[in-house]
Amino acid sequence: MIRMLGIETSCDETAASVVALDDSGVPRILSNVVLSQIEDHAAFGGVVPEIAARAHVEALDGIVEAALKEAELGLGDVDGVAATAGPGLIGGLIVGLMTAKAIAAASGKPLLPVNHLEGHALTARLTDDVAFPYLLLLVSGGHTQVVLVRGVGDYERWATTIDDALGEAFDKTAKLLGLPYPGGPNVERQAEAGDASRFRFPRPLRGEQRLDFSFSGLKTAVRQAATAIAPLSGQDVADICAGFQLAITETLEERVGRSLERFRSLFPDIGSPALVVAGGVAANKAIRATLDSLCARHGMRLVAPPIALCTDNAAMIGWAGIERLRAGLVTNDVMTMAPRSRWPLDEAAAPMIGHGKRGAKA
Ligand code: KG4
Ligand code: ZN
Repeated sequence: MIRMLGIETSCDETAASVVALDDSGVPRILSNVVLSQIEDHAAFGGVVPEIAARAHVEALDGIVEAALKEAELGLGDVDGVAATAGPGLIGGLIVGLMTAKAIAAASGKPLLPVNHLEGHALTARLTDDVAFPYLLLLVSGGHTQVVLVRGVGDYERWATTIDDALGEAFDKTAKLLGLPYPGGPNVERQAEAGDASRFRFPRPLRGEQRLDFSFSGLKTAVRQAATAIAPLSGQDVADICAGFQLAITETLEERVGRSLERFRSLFPDIGSPALVVAGGVAANKAIRATLDSLCARHGMRLVAPPIALCTDNAAMIGWAGIERLRAGLVTNDVMTMAPRSRWPLDEAAAPMIGHGKRGAKA
C-alpha cells in the first residue's frame, strides 16, 4: 500500500488530497479537497496573481488538514508528499512547494515535485487504468495540447496553440459578450439556446498539415460580429455563442483528427487505443460528444475522467507522485528545487512563438 498526500496551488484552486494504491494495484482517492477562489477573482474578470498567492497562504494549512482528516490519516501515515512545482503562477507555486518541503522535512517522508501537466496527463490511469502509450488532449484555460504519453515522465508534445488557449478563447468570448467569468460554462449554456447557422466563424488552420491549434482569430471574428450588430439582444448573444461553439467543435474535429491518424499509423497494433481528454474545457458537452464520435471513427476510445478530476485538483498530483515513486523517479536534490512558472512536459519541444505569455491557468 502506498499513500500519497498531494498539494495543488498553481492557479486559483487551493487543493489537497490523499490518494492510495493498494497492494493489488487498485488506486483509491481517500480524500479530495478543493477550495476554489473564483469569487475572489470574479470582480476582475480573471485570475489576479497576487490575490491568488495570498489566498493560498491563508487556506493551504487548513485544506491539508481537512484532506488528512477526511482520509482518517495523520501525517505519519502517508508515504510521501507530492506538490505541484510548476507550471503556473509563481506565488501560488512557492506557497505549495514550500509547504510540501516543510511537511517532508518535519515528517521525514519523500517529497515529489510534480509537473501540473503530468498530473492532468496521468489522471486517466487513476480513474480508468489506461495503459501506455495513449494520446492526451489537454484543453484548459492555459493549455491546448496534444501529447503522446509513452510512460511516466516520457512525453512527446505533438501539438500546442500558437496563440490563445481554448479555455481562454471561451473566457474572452464570454467577456466581450458581457457574460460572467469563468466564461466556458456560460458560453456553453447560451449556445444551447442559440442558432449556430446564423454566424459563420472561421475554422483556424483548417487543412494544414501541422497538428497545432490557433484560436485568437476566432475570438477577433466574434468581436467583429458582435460590434457590427451592437447593442446585442439576448438572442444575438445566444446565436453568437452557438456559432462560436460550432466553430470550436469543427476545428477540434479536424485538428485532433490528424493527431489520431498519426497515432493510429504509429501504433497499428494497439487493440483499443485511448484518447484521454483533460482540463476544464473537457466539461463541455458538445466538445465531449464531438470527440466521442471522432474517436469512434478512428477506432479509438475516448476516456474522459469525471469533471472534478478534469479540472484542477490535488488527487491528480498525489497520483502523479505515486506513479513517480513507483517508477523510481525520485531525486535527491528536491529540497533545493525552485518552483518553475514555465515547465513544458516535453522539454525537447520547441517553444511556440507567442504562446504561454497569456493565460494564467495550466
Ligand atoms: O482546468 P481548469 O479548471 O483550469 C485550468 O485552466 O487549469 O480550466 C478552466 C477553463 C476556463 O477557461 C473555463 O472557461 C473552461 O475551462 N471551461 C469550459 C467549460 N467549463 C470550464 N469551457 C467550455 N465549456 C465548459 N463547459
Ligand atoms: Zn490544470
